[in-house]
Amino acid sequence: MQAVLFDLDGVITDTAKYHFTAWKQMAERIGIEIDSDFNESLKGIERMQSLERILVHGHQEQKYSQAEKERLAQEKNDEYVSLLAGLTPEDTYPGIKELLTELQENKIPAVIASASKNAPLILEALQLNTYFHAIVDPGGIPGKPEPDIFVKGAEQAGADSVYCIGIEDSQAGIEAIKAAGMYAVGIGEESILGPSGADIVYPSTKELTLQRLLTAAQLA
Ligand code: G6P
Ligand code: MG
Repeated sequence: MQAVLFDLDGVITDTAKYHFTAWKQMAERIGIEIDSDFNESLKGIERMQSLERILVHGHQEQKYSQAEKERLAQEKNDEYVSLLAGLTPEDTYPGIKELLTELQENKIPAVIASASKNAPLILEALQLNTYFHAIVDPGGIPGKPEPDIFVKGAEQAGADSVYCIGIEDSQAGIEAIKAAGMYAVGIGEESILGPSGADIVYPSTKELTLQRLLTAAQLA
């Protein structure tokens, strides 16, 4: 195995729930209800694109100017960042630090492949920066489910995609990993991530050990 590419929100820590809370509050202010089923289609999706999906969902796609949309997205991000304020290393999902340590000991680069512009802030709060070889800049490339962010991550690690593993909690992310030609590990529910193409789904990050990943992906 040449590299492991990690999504951030919902894989490294439970920030996916904060994204949902912040979007829900913003949507309610403009009269749109979103539930957790709809939220599955927002996971992994870049900020302005997520807003567009919410507006379409509420039949308001024609209602706002670009400047108003940017203000709505900013409001959501302000709320989201305020929810991140209490984040500490203890909020890292179980098993993640252990896996990152194993990867480091085995000289296998770990890379963050997240659509979030808040990724550096979150990794700093969790004190995990030093475990990652790179954080892919999501700016200027097509978002998930396109493969670009994973392809770029493999390149930054000097790895060949076929010898990489991607770990994701979102449908769009699993599709992106598969489109990049990598082995896709889902974190969450088989019924949600299986149909998107996950090669294996674990209910929790607790299951993620280097040995288990190597065996599953047959990439010793
Ligand atoms: C991740 C999350 C999405 C979020 C996106 C952009 O992909 O799963 O829910 O919308 O990042 O995050 P940002 O922090 O830049 O708004
Ligand atoms: Mg995610």
